[in-house]
Amino acid sequence: MTEVTTTNAGARDVLLEAKDVTAGYTPGVNILTNCSLTLNRGEIVGIIGPNGAGKSTLLKALFGLLSVQSGSITHRGESIVGMHSHELVERGIGYVPQRDNVFPSLTVLENLEMGIYLKPKEFHERADFVQTMFPRLAERRNQRAGSLSGGERQMLAMGRALMMNPEVVLLDEPSAGLSPVLQDQVFVRTREINKAGVSVVMVEQNARRCLQICDRGYVLDQGTNAYTDTGEKLLHDPKVIELYLGTLAS
Ligand SMILES: Nc1ncnc2c1ncn2[C@@H]1O[C@H](COP(=O)(O)OP(=O)(O)O)[C@@H](O)[C@H]1O
Ligand SMILES: [Mg+2]
Repeated sequence: MTEVTTTNAGARDVLLEAKDVTAGYTPGVNILTNCSLTLNRGEIVGIIGPNGAGKSTLLKALFGLLSVQSGSITHRGESIVGMHSHELVERGIGYVPQRDNVFPSLTVLENLEMGIYLKPKEFHERADFVQTMFPRLAERRNQRAGSLSGGERQMLAMGRALMMNPEVVLLDEPSAGLSPVLQDQVFVRTREINKAGVSVVMVEQNARRCLQICDRGYVLDQGTNAYTDTGEKLLHDPKVIELYLGTLAS
């Protein structure tokens, strides 16, 4: 793998880029229309927007789970359209789906093992890393994933994606269904993972909290880009507040 180093101050190192993507689940029914997103190395990029806006669909398109009608999706400048998920994982892209993201009948350790079946020799080293990041998983290592709490399952799903030491993770609503305290932990963890060198694309219903931690955000509406800016600017944009973040007073 060639390592791209940025020498110019301000020069961007684009890791993942979707440009004008039109795609859907069935031929003739497009969910995404000319949808674009860029992830630069080191960033956390958030995708927010109403239910049904196509946020999960965009993440699936990035992870090769959708057939793309038009537009391009590149990783390190190379087209990844049509690549299988395992090829994308080998390229350093991890994906944590919104639902069904652990194997309930397997133990925590077995789930982590599934995350690195492509490189079994590295299992112990990576499992140690993940259990250090999520001590709760270490405590529960021999417990079946199906018996974990919602928060623990989310940690396990993230941990499994981290087993391959990815350069990018795509997280689909990691805080969904968790108590406020656990939701906050998810955002804290996501930042820690990012600080450890992993670039992140995260879809979130918890839009404010997401924009607070992300470098840049994309507001999707009806399958297309509505607003794009830094997390900070989106948080304070009156139109975004009015349409997507609740009332100004909140
Ligand atoms: N597997 C699927 N097959 C067909 N349509 C789907 C599928 N998943 C989602 N959709 C449709 O795509 C649209 C966008 O859904 P989704 O990307 O899940 O939205 P979001 O994640 O923003 O809530 C919705 O109209 C939804 O009904
Ligand atoms: Mg979704």
